[in-house]
Amino acid sequence: MHRILLAYSGGLDTSIAIPWLRERYGAEIITVTVDLGQGREIAALHERALALGAVRAHVLDAREEFVREYILPTLQAGAVYEDRYPLATALARPLMARCLVEIARMEGADAIAHGCTGEHNDQVRLEASARALDPSLTIIAPAQSWGMSRDEKLAFARTRNIPVPEASEGVYSIDTNLWGRAIAAGGLEDAWVEPAEDIYTLTRSPRECPEEPAYVELAFEAGVPVRANGVEMPLLELIESLEIIAGAHGVGRIDVVENRLAGIKAREVYEAPAAVVLHTAHKELEKLVIPRELERVKHDLSRIYADLVYSGLWFSHTRETIDAFVAAVQPRVTGAVRLKLYKGDCRIVGRKSPFAEVAPAAAAAADPQAV
Ligand code: ARG
Repeated sequence: MHRILLAYSGGLDTSIAIPWLRERYGAEIITVTVDLGQGREIAALHERALALGAVRAHVLDAREEFVREYILPTLQAGAVYEDRYPLATALARPLMARCLVEIARMEGADAIAHGCTGEHNDQVRLEASARALDPSLTIIAPAQSWGMSRDEKLAFARTRNIPVPEASEGVYSIDTNLWGRAIAAGGLEDAWVEPAEDIYTLTRSPRECPEEPAYVELAFEAGVPVRANGVEMPLLELIESLEIIAGAHGVGRIDVVENRLAGIKAREVYEAPAAVVLHTAHKELEKLVIPRELERVKHDLSRIYADLVYSGLWFSHTRETIDAFVAAVQPRVTGAVRLKLYKGDCRIVGRKSPFAEVAPAAAAAADPQAV
């Protein structure tokens, strides 16, 4: 092993991994940090990685690609895991793997390393994706092989001059990108306990929401959301704007016990204001324009698609084939949906489309027998 590419988040584990991997394998360490809308200062991580001994530190902005090639197809497929989780974390992993594999080839690295620890799901997704793209690369999971306790990690960090994050960090396990935020651990394991209000950062408590509802009219063209309240926006900006509006009205809090890949059920809390609004709207518009049988087929495929994404099977023939099917449905998904956001509630109050299959009101009134 002479050159290892490390997925670098800037956290304690991946910071420790830089000197640890270098010492353990005698290899050059090159880091890669991918910006997927984590909402953290990513640019500073370049300096930090170099200061910790990385020979090169790549920082990539993959937000556009994330939106266009991962979020949009998933939205159009209507894929929401177990009807609740919009898959933000699960969707990010294949893209991270793609960036890693690409840079590994460019840099001539023979291994890629990642900081996954207890969250088995993420490791499965990252490794399955990397293997699907390039089976020749060795995969190393340092945070699993070093067997250090938190205290031992802190001691290791001190001897290598690694800045240690504040104590407040580490209570919860949090993963954020522009499609949503996941919060686990820190006491949330007990599925009976109500989450503390301060875990939420994207959504306001219904108690503090405005007294007046917000109306959002979302226009779609061929399955792509293109306008909010008449303002045309690229999808990335639209997602960011919806996160702010829906979050301010408390929309997008999701508290679930989900079936993890390891076969256990685990409690997880999500905040996904934009994803909730967009899925609600897209689903409603599609329902308006497609026949009943197609609705049923689409419904089944949505569930399969969500399971595939959750299971790390993004780079698969099955996913690509469902994408082709979904794409064939989208040209009709043109029109608008009107939503009312109010104290945590996201309610559909109107929908229209030139392809609507509903009987026009005038025709029904003219011939009441026909209804
Ligand atoms: N359970 C979710 C998933 O498997 C989120 C995982 C990341 N969560 C976290 N708190 N770090 O996709």
